[in-house]
Amino acid sequence: MNQVVIALGSNIEKERNLPAAIKLFREMCQVTAVAPIYETIPVGLLDQPNFWNTAVLIETDLSPEHIKAEIIEKVEQELKRVRQADPNAPRTIDADIILFNDEVREYAGLDGRMRQIPDKDLARFVHVALPVTDLVPEGRHPLTDEPLKELTDRLYQDSFQEGKPVIWMTYAPLAPYVSEFNATGNLESDVEQLFFQHDCQHIYHHVKNVAEKAAELAERFGANVEHCVQGALLHDISGVVPNADRVTLAQQLGIDLLPEEISFPMITHQKLSVVFAREVFHIHEPDVLSAIGCHTTLKAEFTLTDQIVFLADKISWDQSGTPPYLDELLKALDQSIEAASLVYINYLWGMRDKLRVVHPWMVAARETLLTQ
Ligand SMILES: [Fe+2]
Ligand SMILES: [Fe+2]
Repeated sequence: MNQVVIALGSNIEKERNLPAAIKLFREMCQVTAVAPIYETIPVGLLDQPNFWNTAVLIETDLSPEHIKAEIIEKVEQELKRVRQADPNAPRTIDADIILFNDEVREYAGLDGRMRQIPDKDLARFVHVALPVTDLVPEGRHPLTDEPLKELTDRLYQDSFQEGKPVIWMTYAPLAPYVSEFNATGNLESDVEQLFFQHDCQHIYHHVKNVAEKAAELAERFGANVEHCVQGALLHDISGVVPNADRVTLAQQLGIDLLPEEISFPMITHQKLSVVFAREVFHIHEPDVLSAIGCHTTLKAEFTLTDQIVFLADKISWDQSGTPPYLDELLKALDQSIEAASLVYINYLWGMRDKLRVVHPWMVAARETLLTQ
């Protein structure tokens, strides 16, 4: 199997076209990773809209010629078709093969012109090098053997020295939600800041309660208190994204959504919160990100931290009144944390016919709990 990195860029209706291109790649070949989307200032001709750039890593038996003819050409055609009303408009998507394994070679494009692998732009432009490096962080430039990380750092520094800060909004799709946000490094006040900027005071109060409860459970069950508190503070952070925008945002971020999540967008908030935690709050601890990512549903292979954030959220729930399962859940906690998780999941399971969707992760978590 060949490992191929393809760079993507768009500056016409990019909010739609770049995610659409990623989706088409997924349909036509095996995409094994997608880089973050970066907003970048155009190079050369400056008087045009900013770009969104990213890259995809694909696994394929095809040669570069066939990838170009059978995949890239089709993606470009498909997305051009969207704006046929204006035949003179610039291209909606650019897709170029940047790396093909770690080979150095040429191939013929459809116009017969020879193209090089690695693509020359890899060593020239930070907006190409950066997402490529995200996909193959340990990679080296096949021609020069320079580590891609060093190449990217150098291009980034150069772009400033030339007086043109080329990039920079990682995860550009999150930008509309964090345009006023200034991180201080104090997680609790940063979370408060973002919620208040979006008039989500009620969610802030909820996550504060969940964090308190999570700290208490962490002490009681010997978990990592800091991880549990961080997970609790951030678990609903994507509550700043209106429900109606969640599926679109998830697609722009390259998040894989299950059919259940598309039909009931509220559940996508656990996956969206992970991206906010990582990209906006710079939390990279897998234990914390895992707990955020399954706090609504749990999952087949859950950790102690996952269960604590999950249960703290159910005990300090965000609706009025007392949760109907609360007494039983608290009693079960005297037995074990797993018993308590099962109480809540069985509560949902008992009314599964009335639920909008039954999330497969929850079904899997229940099976794990039942066999313990
Ligand atoms: Fe939640
Ligand atoms: Fe919550």
